[in-house]
Amino acid sequence: MQLWRFLKPAALGFTLRNGSQLLFDWVTGAPPIPLRVRDYVAVHAREGDPVDVLRAMDRFAVEERFLMNVGPDKGPLVRELLAKLPSNARILELGAFCGYSAILLATTLGTDGKIVSVEKSGAAVEGTRANVAYAGLADRVQVIHGSSTEIIPSLEGPFDLVFLDHWKDLYKTDLEVIEKCGLLRKGSLVVADNVGEVFGAAPYLEYVRGCGRYENETRTATIEYTKIPDAVEISEYKGDGRAV
Ligand SMILES: C[S@@+](CC[C@H](N)C(=O)[O-])C[C@H]1O[C@@H](n2cnc3c(N)ncnc32)[C@H](O)[C@@H]1O
Repeated sequence: MQLWRFLKPAALGFTLRNGSQLLFDWVTGAPPIPLRVRDYVAVHAREGDPVDVLRAMDRFAVEERFLMNVGPDKGPLVRELLAKLPSNARILELGAFCGYSAILLATTLGTDGKIVSVEKSGAAVEGTRANVAYAGLADRVQVIHGSSTEIIPSLEGPFDLVFLDHWKDLYKTDLEVIEKCGLLRKGSLVVADNVGEVFGAAPYLEYVRGCGRYENETRTATIEYTKIPDAVEISEYKGDGRAV
């Protein structure tokens, strides 16, 4: 990720505040954030209540440390997209972090729906599995530990929705691998979070808008828990099966 982008005027306050907190955590040897969130959720949320688990994570993000969750403001958009999917929809998520989006997606999906979430950080996998189980959703969310580019070819498709929310410079190449592996069906939705200017997802946007295989829509948003402008790209796959 190109960190200099976070030095832009719109993001400077955010960068300085979070950078100094991360530095403090590093100097004091604080546990990884996903494990702190797991412990916070276990104390502050009701077990088996996904909405309360999400609420506790939102509170941690506001009161303790910034969390790169999809966040509460994009909840209506997620609900709107999932309403178009069958009740037994299969979702592939790249980037789990603490499990916020996996829990949000799983609670919004019908009880027959399934989410496969790929996460490369061991601490994030541990935190996500604990939070998903605490929310009572372990039977609907499978968390796979590994790097997206290596895991994708081992997955079985098709997926009705792919949620791209890992490192932004991987969005394009991973989507190409997803296509080549035949993991999309005609009408699958590919939803890419954080494609606003700050994150520099231009190569991805050029690809989905220019390759002719997607119908695209951009929704403006703000970076979670901030007022910094951002965007979400929703791309409907028009191909059928394996890409050429
Ligand atoms: C923005 S966070 C995900 C937030 C999560 N989707 C949510 O809304 O709650 C990005 C996550 O992607 C993970 N990640 C980065 N590169 C990855 C890769 N190549 N494969 C899998 N996970 C990756 C990071 O470890 C981090 O936990």
